Amino acid sequence: MVCIRKATVDDLLEMQACNLMCLPENYQMKYYLYHILSWPQLLYVAEDYNGKIVGYVLAKMEEESNECHGHITSLAVLRTHRKLGLATKLMNAAQNAMDQVYGAEYVSLHVRKSNRAAFNLYTETLGYKIHDVEAKYYADGEDAYDMRKQLKAENQKLRTREIQRSTLHRLDDVSGSITFFSRRGAAVLIERSLWQNGIGCALLSMPRVAEV
Ligand SMILES: CC(C)(COP(=O)(O)OP(=O)(O)OC[C@H]1O[C@@H](n2cnc3c(N)ncnc32)[C@H](O)[C@@H]1OP(=O)(O)O)[C@@H](O)C(=O)NCCC(=O)NCCS
Repeated sequence: MVCIRKATVDDLLEMQACNLMCLPENYQMKYYLYHILSWPQLLYVAEDYNGKIVGYVLAKMEEESNECHGHITSLAVLRTHRKLGLATKLMNAAQNAMDQVYGAEYVSLHVRKSNRAAFNLYTETLGYKIHDVEAKYYADGEDAYDMRKQLKAENQKLRTREIQRSTLHRLDDVSGSITFFSRRGAAVLIERSLWQNGIGCALLSMPRVAEV
């Protein structure tokens, strides 16, 4: 029995050990710490019944570009636990958090051209598309596929329905946008013009806030 859960600071050493066993791209501990301190909702681990970490996903938000998007920094599952669907679950957990916590438009990642297992996972199971090829991206000179998966379009309909269903009991004017607070405490910022024209909702952010 393996469970998928959010990572804590106590898991970082085991995540690093798992990374060292599975991938040639390795990181110093401060890089793991940077991730968990900056985006604590975007690190997940697969833990077996003995409490051993057998897989992880390390992800972040890219904040310097205009579009808000998530990025998968690293993903690995120990050989002993592969082909059980763990990577799929880890990726789905990180992607959902990028979407729901940070309102990410899309998620990006790099994968070696020769990494068929990961490439199949991303394209066939998770629906990523090749966005670009980055020549000699890796230290050994191998090219990378720069891959992307759209998040917003997929989830927009679901969220719009959720907004319609929930009791919107507070309305604030925020410089051309409207903030709705649902009963469950989720805040949704919606561009006024889109809302008024009935075109749909531009969900700009969805931070978790205290119950209002
Ligand atoms: C890539 C990796 C994370 C997949 O982990 P996993 O837990 O075995 O993946 P899943 O069980 O969720 O597999 C989902 C899909 O991925 C694909 N896949 C996984 N392993 C595969 C393999 N050895 N060969 C071909 N396709 C594979 C399949 O499409 C699979 O779906 P299926 O089981 O219905 O055939 C794992 O092999 C790994 O850790 N590899 C080394 C590290 C690595 O390459 N990380 C990614 C860097 S970009």
